[in-house]
Amino acid sequence: MARYRTEFLPGSQPRLPPHPPAHYDDSRPFTGALTISSPTTALADAAPQEPERPNSPRVLVKSYGCQMNVYDAARMTDLLGGEGWSETTREDDADLVILNTCHIREKAAEKIYSELGKLAVTKRERAEAGRDMKIVVAGCVAQAEGEEVLRRQRAVDLVVGPQSYHRLPALLKQTNSGARLTDTEFSVEDKFRALPQPSREQIAARGVTAFVTVQEGCDKFCTFCVVPYTRGAEVSRSLADIVAETQRLVDAGVREITLIGQNVNAWRGVDQTDALEALMARLSGMPGLLRLRYTTSHPIDMTQGLIDAHAALPKLMPYMHLPVQSGSDRILKAMNRRHGRDAYIDIIARLRRARPDIALSSDFIVGFPGETDADFEDTMQLIREVGFAANFAFKYSPRPGTPGAERDDQIDEEVKRERLAALQALLEAQRQTFNGAMVGRKIDVLFEKAGRHPGQIGGKSPYLQAVHVDGPESLIGRVAKVRVDSAGPNSLAGVLVEEI
Ligand code: 5AD
Ligand code: SF4
Repeated sequence: MARYRTEFLPGSQPRLPPHPPAHYDDSRPFTGALTISSPTTALADAAPQEPERPNSPRVLVKSYGCQMNVYDAARMTDLLGGEGWSETTREDDADLVILNTCHIREKAAEKIYSELGKLAVTKRERAEAGRDMKIVVAGCVAQAEGEEVLRRQRAVDLVVGPQSYHRLPALLKQTNSGARLTDTEFSVEDKFRALPQPSREQIAARGVTAFVTVQEGCDKFCTFCVVPYTRGAEVSRSLADIVAETQRLVDAGVREITLIGQNVNAWRGVDQTDALEALMARLSGMPGLLRLRYTTSHPIDMTQGLIDAHAALPKLMPYMHLPVQSGSDRILKAMNRRHGRDAYIDIIARLRRARPDIALSSDFIVGFPGETDADFEDTMQLIREVGFAANFAFKYSPRPGTPGAERDDQIDEEVKRERLAALQALLEAQRQTFNGAMVGRKIDVLFEKAGRHPGQIGGKSPYLQAVHVDGPESLIGRVAKVRVDSAGPNSLAGVLVEEI
């Protein structure tokens, strides 16, 4: 699952535009939001790194796509850490490179093959120098294409789907004899329980914000989307396991948790009787935890109870990513979204009643088969009506095996390009207006890391905007008030006012 801009509803307050949220962004490395095709290494953004163990083999995990992959990358690293592997962020240093891939759009998938082509060259040069390098393809391309990956790129040693990561050490051992393997089983074992938890040091090295996967998979079958095929049916983790994992993170210094899932608000616990708001109320009671977020939600699972949680839980941050995909009822139906435009607008109204300052973002697809100019205008109108704080919009990409790809009324590439440009211009203007409206305000910032310049520290506003101030590193992991003095294209700058 990112970008935005700002226009206001008549008579309404400006909606705060957050910084691109934990989502998909084709152009930038992951910075606490999702990205779609820029790789991120599990530690790339972290504070102090764990010292590498001398002489231990080194693994590089490059993650593409959504925050689920970011979480999985960290868990794979933890798993291999227990088997004696050190993490590296450098390809030229790696004995094992794992590409944790994304299949959501064609561009994302094709990018993996060009990356594999480059890795194949490195691997050959390595072999000539007498040193081995293994290449593993994990994630959704692995799940969707399986053995095809081995056929297309001979340098790949192992293809492993998202439900099989806990078998990685055993699978890697099998490749030592030269075997090339694929494991894309949906196993009955609980993958989460089979994966080891990170150590305190590993958690601390990853910074003060963390993801916790609470739910995986999707039963919605939107007609454009591969996720139900690559990630399988909706499965919720148990409340007890989520609480235990969160407690461990908080004990090691994590101050903000983002609960993640392909359909996070479909979380119901193992016996299907729980609700996300109850889980969040439970986590909110944890001393030490300062902030909670959740993503990505589907409108049809947006219950009143969950909406009310935005009023009831002060630790729940006033930012909501709620994909609508289109503003046209006709297209929403063709997409099998199972709700109309009015239902979406009603959810937004109720969210705003619960939490008047809530900032919103959404995903939009332009050029779904059959989309007319009038349908597209409905989407533009919905954006003007709602007002978004971030900008996530995509050209429809026909994905093999999905109903949308079979349709014979595909939209011309040039039309898609024009619509995307217009929609992004609108969203980007809303985002910039939202950011600009912060200037002069005092906002709470959770500081996450040292800034780019000496003496600078950086963190996030409640609305997921990046904020920089001059201040001491001792504030990292704490929330302080900042008066915003200026808004740049991607971040805010200000001065510390007080520590909370
Ligand atoms: N083409 C374009 N965008 C897509 N998305 C999902 N599938 C496709 C596709 N085939 C977008 C949706 C979704 C986000 C994660 O990616 O907007 O919410
Ligand atoms: Fe894909 Fe729709 Fe499921 Fe989201 S809800 S993962 S868009 S099928």
